[in-house]
Amino acid sequence: MPQVFEASSIGSIQMKNRIIRSATGDGLADPDGRPTAELIGFYTKLAEGGAGAIITGLTGIQQDGKSSTYHPLMLDRDDVISDYRKLTEAVHRFDTPIIAQLNHCGRQTRQRITGKATVAPSARRDLYFLEKRPKAITESEIETIIDNFVKAIVRAKKAGFDGVQLHLAHGFLLSAFLSSNTNRRTDQWGGSLINKFRIVEQIFAGARKEVGDFPILAKMNAYDTRKNGMRIPEAIEIAQQLEQAGCAAVEISCGMVNDGFITVRSPHFPTEAALRYSYLLSYLPEFVKKTIRPFVPPVAELIVPLPKQLNLYNLEAAERIGRHVSIPVIVVGGIRRLADIEDIIIHQRADYVSMSRAFISEPDIVNRFKGKKQTESSCIACNYCITCMESMPFKCFYGKLK
Ligand SMILES: Cc1cc2nc3c(=O)[nH]c(=O)nc-3n(C[C@H](O)[C@H](O)[C@H](O)COP(=O)(O)O)c2cc1C
Repeated sequence: MPQVFEASSIGSIQMKNRIIRSATGDGLADPDGRPTAELIGFYTKLAEGGAGAIITGLTGIQQDGKSSTYHPLMLDRDDVISDYRKLTEAVHRFDTPIIAQLNHCGRQTRQRITGKATVAPSARRDLYFLEKRPKAITESEIETIIDNFVKAIVRAKKAGFDGVQLHLAHGFLLSAFLSSNTNRRTDQWGGSLINKFRIVEQIFAGARKEVGDFPILAKMNAYDTRKNGMRIPEAIEIAQQLEQAGCAAVEISCGMVNDGFITVRSPHFPTEAALRYSYLLSYLPEFVKKTIRPFVPPVAELIVPLPKQLNLYNLEAAERIGRHVSIPVIVVGGIRRLADIEDIIIHQRADYVSMSRAFISEPDIVNRFKGKKQTESSCIACNYCITCMESMPFKCFYGKLK
């Protein structure tokens, strides 16, 4: 029977326990996307605090895929490798593995950041970012993106990362290829599941030639709420394709950014944080904010209702997917209690759990759990951390703006 606090491994990635820090953008890179001393300090706290493994926040592979969040990481050129080496060395001092999450944002970013029109598999507008209609990428641009993912994987290996995770979730570019809601292509990159998966398959194939058996993981959506979007039966097939392509482990998540608070759930709409710091609302004049304040939650609820299930919301999907693959399954989403983690691991409902917000409020949550100092995260899921992401580095607001 597997245990939470026992050693295990995913390929060559050796872990002390089965609680992983899920990818979390922190806004602590420098303006060029290099890890700073502050970022390394935070990751050191996570490693010292007992995380089984740490997955970095989303890390860009090319400039037109750069995130619009505050100061994101970039691994798009060789001259940053030495900066990342400082990060991996700091974390390795605690025998903690670190995995780089590689990403192209696709249409979920802003032209003012990338300097170009956003791109997507098909020219369909995103309803959160509300940028102009994205440009449907050409075949040669797809080849460039595959090549840049492979190059970033090579850089991650050189920088001392223990593995990489491809971001196939939350509506970013690779995820947008996998969902029929966002991928309307009729060429070899759209239509059938094999065609939609081709870009991911080619990244794996290209990387294998360069990095051998260096672990490549994937974070994928089990479902989204879009018409013709991702649903669990298709996600099962995608997980199987990933296994065939040589993926080391799949992390199961859900939702696209314009699905609202599906991916990162909360009992309340974060009105105050949204009015003060979200990109679209923060620019409104104060009198307008005052007038619309009472209407923000009901209108937001009308557009995308807040989901009712706040805890363990990807567990059922992860269990279903796990029955069809033999690679390890990591489940993320609303995991905050030690008792739930023990239930998931001991009863093999998933092989690993991962958490994001619990590590923002308490970077040493794993040691606290292990020492039974605490059995539940103190995160109240106010979601101010994620709402402010385009304006400032992350922090735990604990439901209060200063
Ligand atoms: C501030 C913040 C930043 C996040 N950044 C990322 C990211 O860079 N990549 C990613 O895959 N998910 C990201 N997420 C989503 C989390 O990894 C996770 O899937 C989600 O928050 C649900 O897990 P939780 O309930 O443990 O927070 C972020 C979440 C938060 C709150």
